[in-house]
Amino acid sequence: MMKETCISEPDFILNKENLTREDIIFLLRLNKGNDLNKLFKKADEIRKRYIGNDVHIRGILEFSNHCKNDCLYCGIRKSNTKLNRYRIEAKEIIKIAENAVNNLGFKTILLQSGEDDFYKKEIMEDIIKTILKKCDCRIALSIGERPIEEYKGFYEAGARRCLIRFETSNKKLFEKLHPSSSSTKNSLGKRIWLIKKLKGIGYQVGTGPMIGLPGQKIEDLAEDILLYNKLNINMAGMGPFICHPDTPLNGNKNGTFSLSLKMVAVTRIVCKDIFISATTALQTINKINGRELALKAGANLLMPNITPKKYREHYQLYPGKVCIYENPYDCADCVKRVISSVGRRIGEGYGDSIRK
Ligand code: SAM
Ligand code: FES
Repeated sequence: MMKETCISEPDFILNKENLTREDIIFLLRLNKGNDLNKLFKKADEIRKRYIGNDVHIRGILEFSNHCKNDCLYCGIRKSNTKLNRYRIEAKEIIKIAENAVNNLGFKTILLQSGEDDFYKKEIMEDIIKTILKKCDCRIALSIGERPIEEYKGFYEAGARRCLIRFETSNKKLFEKLHPSSSSTKNSLGKRIWLIKKLKGIGYQVGTGPMIGLPGQKIEDLAEDILLYNKLNINMAGMGPFICHPDTPLNGNKNGTFSLSLKMVAVTRIVCKDIFISATTALQTINKINGRELALKAGANLLMPNITPKKYREHYQLYPGKVCIYENPYDCADCVKRVISSVGRRIGEGYGDSIRK
């Protein structure tokens, strides 16, 4: 009898301290306006209590769109020959970072690329060290799977954060989406092993799934949320799957904004003190107010693009990606407007994770 009350009563679940897998599934299935408002309100309250009103900003620099992998969903996958490939030279990467920190006021530079072995360990270490010598900031890496010895070297060079998504916690789906190739053999186990190792080195780690992948179920998304706490991660970065026509997943449906927003809210309720990003993909499927709604449903991070305009259009992981015609100055101003429009303030300092 009690169980029936739990499953049919959003208020009861939202007032529980710890949610079960079934509770999470229940919340992810909510679809009535009134229930959704309660869900988002609760997530916003928890965000305020554990994180406060600061919104932290990470400037993403997409420094190379070369990739040795062939992830089925990704627009910059190795087999997409329609793409103009670019690599930004170390010197230019450093200049872009300097401008972002010293002129635009960013406190974190997120260096992102495809899995590109061109940037050998020594080159990456040199980039990290030089940026840190010239700028007062944190460096985050989103460069895919690299040998653990390399990640140790990047940490010694001064990098303190890593973003590497587990993409989905469903092992079979992960394997379908990440075919083995001659150079890499992808598996969910290896990805999770790497995330644990990165935490062990001392990195603050961000991870997350894509939402609405072909074949993905609500139950999988509930497992994704539970995985955040199992891995004790610092930041959740998740967004809708957006179908790219030049990939083998062409013809599949995109993930929806409403499910993505529910994922943000339920993650906040379950994980409480982690950072949660209002991602670019979320903004892409709701260009009008995607970021604002995510900030009001539990998110506390924004990641504007600081890649120079001439490269941006070639880093289309998915079609319709926002901000490809803007430059770093536009994006810096834009995020400030978004943050004040929801009555919040830009976080001061480096915006380090409060979860250790
Ligand atoms: N190479 C690094 C890595 O694999 O971690 C970083 C770059 S990778 C392109 C960044 C993220 O983009 C992936 O982890 C994936 O979740 C996301 N992504 C790629 N293709 C996407 C798509 N079609 N829709 C939504 N997100 C996508
Ligand atoms: Fe790039 Fe708004 S974040 S123009």
